[in-house]
Amino acid sequence: MELIGPFSQILPLTNLPLKGALHDEQLLAIEHGGVVTDGGRILEVGDFKALQRQYPDCDVTHITVPSVLLPGFIDCHTHICFDGSRNRDYAMRIAGKSYLEIARAGGGIWDSVMKTRAADQETLMNNTVARANRHLHEGVTTIEVKSGYGLNLEGELNMLRAIQDAASHTKATLIPTCLAAHMRPKDFEGSEEAYLNWIITSLLPLIQSEQLAHRVDVFIEETAFTSGPAKHFLQQAADMGFAATVHADQFSTGGTAVAVAAGALSADHLEASDDAAIALLAAADIVAVVLPGASLGLGMHYAPARKLLNAGATVAIASDWNPGSAPMGDLLLQAAVLSAAEKLSTAEVFAALTTRAAKALQLHHIGQLAPGFLADMQAYPCADYRDILYYQGKMKPTRVWKEGERIK
Ligand code: NIG
Ligand code: FE
Repeated sequence: MELIGPFSQILPLTNLPLKGALHDEQLLAIEHGGVVTDGGRILEVGDFKALQRQYPDCDVTHITVPSVLLPGFIDCHTHICFDGSRNRDYAMRIAGKSYLEIARAGGGIWDSVMKTRAADQETLMNNTVARANRHLHEGVTTIEVKSGYGLNLEGELNMLRAIQDAASHTKATLIPTCLAAHMRPKDFEGSEEAYLNWIITSLLPLIQSEQLAHRVDVFIEETAFTSGPAKHFLQQAADMGFAATVHADQFSTGGTAVAVAAGALSADHLEASDDAAIALLAAADIVAVVLPGASLGLGMHYAPARKLLNAGATVAIASDWNPGSAPMGDLLLQAAVLSAAEKLSTAEVFAALTTRAAKALQLHHIGQLAPGFLADMQAYPCADYRDILYYQGKMKPTRVWKEGERIK
């Protein structure tokens, strides 16, 4: 048992509604707070001196500098298992080349598929661990990781095995998702329906028997998979017991309606979501995941996070860290920049990085500093929580705990 404190402020982020707009008064910061942890979980959060009296025999870790404690962040959408760079795509894009010109020059998702297929499992594992650890040091304690740069049996299994292996080589929690439906691979002979059917009949049974993932994702877009086949695919995957998430409305609408109809846990991207899509997301039990890192990487507008919250949606913010559209991988910076552009309150941003992201991953024991929750925590070197977004991601946590263990 360990008592840690006193912190200048603790933001427990408990009792925040999952849906809709939030005000900073709802953060209920605890001044001069302490946390008691036991066996990797939180036992109690409250006034430091009161906890000292209540637990007189407890080991005490004294915090002697200004410090604000938050739950660890949750990045509910990443593609951090890949090999190779797409810096050529990026240089062409900022020089004004179009998507088609970049694809014709050998860029795009397919370039990462070629590079990732050529990498062995150990290389992919090491790459994933390195990126997960960078996230962990920046306070991100749980990370969703997608496949989707294999797109054949060997390639997808290689990625998912690498992710599984990576999970035992990092302290961060990794949640794997099968994104074989990222695009129809150029070397697959057959229609999009035939490819999706191949995933259902040949790939998912193996993923299930090796317990490599219990989630699937599909990229719905004219250049990837269209709504009808994608909907059928999600229904079949659900019948097999897979939970679903969708790359929806990135460039054109349509994906959100499929995600909602299929009962997906989340619809992610949403840059192109119109009022009808926003209304659907607000009415359904689904998390709207916005990905400002992809907007920054592609030089395009942000998803309508403010409108989504005003309509009553559950909004999470994730990094989309991937080699193509979102190479930066700095979740806090991206969330801070989004909040300035979209006018999100600090409470909305912190909820989007914790409790609301936990919902997207169906994880019920993280994202809050409350009794029984995992002691995944991060402390920032300031006395006022407002400094965290004020410095727009430049101020990083100086201490990070994963299940009670200090890793930074
Ligand atoms: O989430 N939108 C589709 N997939 C990724 C991009 C992947 C890539 O370009 O390699 C995304 O942005
Ligand atoms: Fe993505």
